[in-house]
Amino acid sequence: MAPLRDFIFPHPYSEAEKELQEAGLAHLLSFGKVKLGGVNVIGKGKSGVVALTEDLNVVKIRRSDSPKRCLKFEARMQERAIGVAPRVLNYGCHFILMEYIKGRELMRTEGIDVIIQVLRAGFSLDQLEIEHREITRPWGNVLIGDKRAFIIDFEDARPSPSPTNFVRLFSAFRRSLLNASLHNKYI
Ligand SMILES: Nc1ncnc2c1ncn2[C@@H]1O[C@H](COP(=O)(O)OP(=O)(O)O)[C@@H](O)[C@H]1O
Ligand SMILES: [Mg+2]
Repeated sequence: MAPLRDFIFPHPYSEAEKELQEAGLAHLLSFGKVKLGGVNVIGKGKSGVVALTEDLNVVKIRRSDSPKRCLKFEARMQERAIGVAPRVLNYGCHFILMEYIKGRELMRTEGIDVIIQVLRAGFSLDQLEIEHREITRPWGNVLIGDKRAFIIDFEDARPSPSPTNFVRLFSAFRRSLLNASLHNKYI
């Protein structure tokens, strides 16, 4: 267990500390593959740091250098993506508390079972009328859980009456399968 301060990156700032403390997140667990100063975290992206909480959920904490000033819109988009994204439990401008997906990131070469799970998630997101907008290269924005795939990082997501998540995922897989078979042919 480590104090919240150690997880606010690159510099601790009081608004985030205050908001997270009020949400009962004064301490977090040092856990995960990514080193962040003196602690470990599950993930570090361009706008957030993702760490494990004492209740074994995860919290995405807004980076102090993120150009986005508030995570509330992202949290609402993720909340709307029921059954596709990790379930949102609480949020503020500086954090999104959500379900921990114990899984792995999507790889470029996947078997048909995983590909179908991911396409299914994309199809569901289309039905919920959400355009993810960062799914063209899905590696990094899809987590593979025990039974199904989860789409994450709704930072740029928008409501849309005719989303294109499914076709974008389909093209991504087609592209990587084509590349793999060309590569195999010439080695
Ligand atoms: N609910 C979750 N469960 C497990 N790991 C997660 C979860 N959400 C995010 N991660 C991990 O944290 C990383 C960064 O999260 P992400 O939302 O993409 O942050 P950013 O907006 O900064 O890119 C992801 O690539 C993933 O590995
Ligand atoms: Mg990301």
